[in-house]
Amino acid sequence: MKAKTKMIHGGITSDEHTGAVSVPIYQTSTYQQKQAGNPGDYEYSRTGNPTRHALESVIADLENGTAGFAFGSGMGAITSVMMLFEAGDHIVMTDDIYGGSYRLMSHVWDQFHLSTTYVDTSHSEEVEVAIQPNTKALFIETPTNPLLKITDIWKMAEIAKKHDLLLIVDNTFATPYFQQPLSLGADIVLHSASKYIGGHSDVVAGLVAVKSDALAESIHFIQNSAGAILGPQDAWLLLRGIKTLALRMEAIEQNTKQIAAFLQEQKQVSSIYYPGLAAHPGHEIAKQQATGFGGMISFDVGSEKAADSLLERLQYFTLAESLGAVETLISIPAKMTHASIPPERRKELGITDGLIRLSVGIEDSEDLMEDLEQAME
Ligand SMILES: Cc1ncc(COP(=O)(O)O)c(C=O)c1O
Repeated sequence: MKAKTKMIHGGITSDEHTGAVSVPIYQTSTYQQKQAGNPGDYEYSRTGNPTRHALESVIADLENGTAGFAFGSGMGAITSVMMLFEAGDHIVMTDDIYGGSYRLMSHVWDQFHLSTTYVDTSHSEEVEVAIQPNTKALFIETPTNPLLKITDIWKMAEIAKKHDLLLIVDNTFATPYFQQPLSLGADIVLHSASKYIGGHSDVVAGLVAVKSDALAESIHFIQNSAGAILGPQDAWLLLRGIKTLALRMEAIEQNTKQIAAFLQEQKQVSSIYYPGLAAHPGHEIAKQQATGFGGMISFDVGSEKAADSLLERLQYFTLAESLGAVETLISIPAKMTHASIPPERRKELGITDGLIRLSVGIEDSEDLMEDLEQAME
């Protein structure tokens, strides 16, 4: 089944009891048992819920995995995956990672003696150097947030295999429509489904997909034990979002390419970060491992003052955290998504005060460009 068809026909797509074409919201905590100690398919909604199960089956399909898991947020998904490890273990992580993932590893898991080394995984040789005897996993994000760096997933899978590590990929930016890391050798793929998968700025959720039965069993055990599950109403919103994921991603990418070309012409813009541009250092790898470059673009206008004044003048660009929605969202990573990263570390990474991040939506691209033009004048 091709990706676009999977969005509609993947996983569990209707209700076996009623034939309802839209999987119903099973708003129940528990399930009647015919005999004590002999439950049916469902027993208690932390352990399993039919609406959540439909979502979990479709994300497994979209990611070419065998099992999926839905959590109350992307961070809930990452936290649950980290529970696979033990005190004393070590993780190698992409340096330009989402600020919340950095905060989780550096200020929460660190207290439980799960340590992390951050490296520029777009340079694979740096990854091998960072591996220690207690390293258990490589955790990468590609493209990264907000600098859109590209890491070679194949190469990371090779390194992970050689050193007996799990390869975990945060696939939030690329989406399963454009990139399927499990097919490129990753062991675990995860998403902030609050972004493109939901797609309408109306739900906070996390998803995980795996292809090994042993990992599926362990993650289900953690999901049920730690309990960071997604509720049925939010699971239903994601099921609905997924049906249009392919169409939204195509429209978003088309707009983003046009905006990237427009920004290249602007003298106020000193750098543009978009893997779809031939000059982007990760362009060739992105082309090989994904079928699209996505809808995230960052650009530098040189100073905090210039960034603030641009933001004030824009009409169609909603100033907000988050990304991946139908409306174009704009943010200043240094003050918003990446504020939890210390200033000196941001400087090292290249996240300047004049860096602006766009999550391009599905509006008419001419309106978006006219708006940018008037704001830049
Ligand atoms: C790449 C990435 N991963 C994970 C997360 C965390 O997801 P959530 O906000 O759903 O907890 C985010 C949130 O912005 C993100 O951008």
